[in-house]
Amino acid sequence: MTIQQPTNNINPTDSASAIADAPFSESVMTQLAAAFFSALPKHNPQGLNLDLPEYANQGISHPPQPKDPVAALSGRIPAIVQQSNLNPNLAQHYIEPTTDHPERRVLSSSPVIGGAHHPDPFALLNRLDIPSTNSELKYVSPLNSQSLVPKLQRPNSQNVTTGSSDYYFLDIAKPITTDLNTQTTPSSEPFPVDGYFNNDFNGPFDTFHTDQYHVIQDHQLKGLLKDRNDKPATTESGYYFAEYSKFDQPQQHQDVQIPITRHNDQPIDIWKIRRDFPILQERVNGKPLIWLDNAATTHKPQAVIDRISYFYQHENSNIHRAAHELAARASDAYEHARNVVARFIGSPSAQNIIFVRGTTEGINLIAKSWGKQNIGAGDEIIISHLEHHANIVPWYQLSQETGAKLRVIPVDDTGQIRIDEFIKLLNPKTKLVSITQVSNALGTVTPTQEIIALAHAAGVRVLIDGAQSVSHIPTNVATLDADFFVFSGHKVFGPTGIGAVYAKSELLASMPVWEGGGNMIQDVTFENVIYQPAPNKFEAGTGNIADAVGLGAALEYVESIGIHNIARYEHDLLEYGQHALQSVSGLKPIGTALNKASVMSFTLAGYETEEVGKVLNQYGIAVRTGHHCAQPILRRFGVERTVRPSLAFYNTTEEIDLLVSVLHQLRRAKPFKARSNF
Ligand code: ALA
Repeated sequence: MTIQQPTNNINPTDSASAIADAPFSESVMTQLAAAFFSALPKHNPQGLNLDLPEYANQGISHPPQPKDPVAALSGRIPAIVQQSNLNPNLAQHYIEPTTDHPERRVLSSSPVIGGAHHPDPFALLNRLDIPSTNSELKYVSPLNSQSLVPKLQRPNSQNVTTGSSDYYFLDIAKPITTDLNTQTTPSSEPFPVDGYFNNDFNGPFDTFHTDQYHVIQDHQLKGLLKDRNDKPATTESGYYFAEYSKFDQPQQHQDVQIPITRHNDQPIDIWKIRRDFPILQERVNGKPLIWLDNAATTHKPQAVIDRISYFYQHENSNIHRAAHELAARASDAYEHARNVVARFIGSPSAQNIIFVRGTTEGINLIAKSWGKQNIGAGDEIIISHLEHHANIVPWYQLSQETGAKLRVIPVDDTGQIRIDEFIKLLNPKTKLVSITQVSNALGTVTPTQEIIALAHAAGVRVLIDGAQSVSHIPTNVATLDADFFVFSGHKVFGPTGIGAVYAKSELLASMPVWEGGGNMIQDVTFENVIYQPAPNKFEAGTGNIADAVGLGAALEYVESIGIHNIARYEHDLLEYGQHALQSVSGLKPIGTALNKASVMSFTLAGYETEEVGKVLNQYGIAVRTGHHCAQPILRRFGVERTVRPSLAFYNTTEEIDLLVSVLHQLRRAKPFKARSNF
């Protein structure tokens, strides 16, 4: 039989007979799926003739590229090695843009700039001179890799090394480490990798063995990265993730005794991860949801949804007060979550963790408690130009109340904090530095370690706003030596309405309470109130118990994947996305710091940011447009609003391709010339 071309008026009988008669080939299934989804009610019945007047005027006839988003979700993940090889100035790397569909340049060049169906360690070995012994490996420029091909041999078990690597797929031969305290425990078991190597082996659920791959070491990858022409390394390490290993030391917790299984240095199985997030199966405007609004909030894995549901089914009670079974269960669950938070951010004790509604409440707590106690007229508070309103307004209010001064560290033209200016701002009147670790508007990863060291040398306390960092890069408050650290649960795959404050013990002991009520007291008379010790003295009233428990589950979920693995994957994905966006003419990135996480803010000449967001939404692509509650930093770059795609570890290169493809369509609708009067 012949399968009908999909139309909006699919005949259910045709479709049924197609199912009955047709062989279940991929193309039949694809056509049936396309027919089904085009039969669904549409918010955009004109298809690509978006409701922008430009489209109507220009009679746009191009179909979306790729035609159906489903077809694009084909399993690629980013691969940093391919990325390092991109050099459009070299003839062999230059990909001719096609005149009819310029976005093809992005799509077809994906494997070069980052996408790879399956990471192939032998492709990497092609770039390296594998020595016959297990001595120091020699780096050979990828540009000369052809000459190495004849020398390439599958390494045997003698030259598989097990040194540590910070790169997510490069030391896959390393035995799985399951014990945080004995990081080098070897395993002779095969390393199961769902679906990653099905081209090389026997099927999608095959396993590979540790003696089949060579391990690439850090210095070699750094060598490869040096060949990148897009962002030359300007410091010794050059890349933020290269520093992570020093944060990876197991901490001795006083009371964080929960056994942990952390799978470091593993490739992450993006498709398995995506199945953990039920909402990623959602359709929006008939298209698969593409969630690129992770800086605003992240989605929740089934483990979190189940944990909250379990709490309400089996543990629901108020905590601490009632002496009955469910009160004990609820208290245990709540305190377990506090332990998990402590472990996740490297706090020496769970007693340093206060549950709050989120980052905003956390900063307000510190401003209204420690701030009021320690900051007075003439004192100075330093923040940076990058800050979210949540890290500006409480300090502005405190300054207004006390007569203190707010001082602002400027950023350079890439959006990075200027340490030279910070040093000049520090003075004997400085009482606090309050700084974001990752900018929500630009994605800049700030040099927090340096800032803390400099501030401490001047005797100044430091608050780190971790709202945008905890889900992307490893956090260790002890190694950082942060005095305060705050974050929100909903940005790290947990529920809304829950977050945490970390503060050093000596600060917590002396900080006055900020809200009064039940739960936080030891004894109350009309003449006198005795408070509980921290953290309880800062948790007045009945807290958000179930969501605290959900936050604990979210952090355990992240731990099960490994935040280092997430950081590496996302680093590649961000690099991929930033390259791909560059192919859209008239697109201006806002925030181009060398060290970035997740965020790819931009403006598109000729379009209001809201127009771009609206069109993307028609394709099921969710991005935030607007000022992102960070007006000062956007104004620093001469804009009031940006379009802000922001990534999480469940995003893929295909999703980025689709984003870029729609942007190219917008560009075609309103061609850009350098002198366009936009
Ligand atoms: N702070 C959140 C954002 O950046 C709401 O979108």
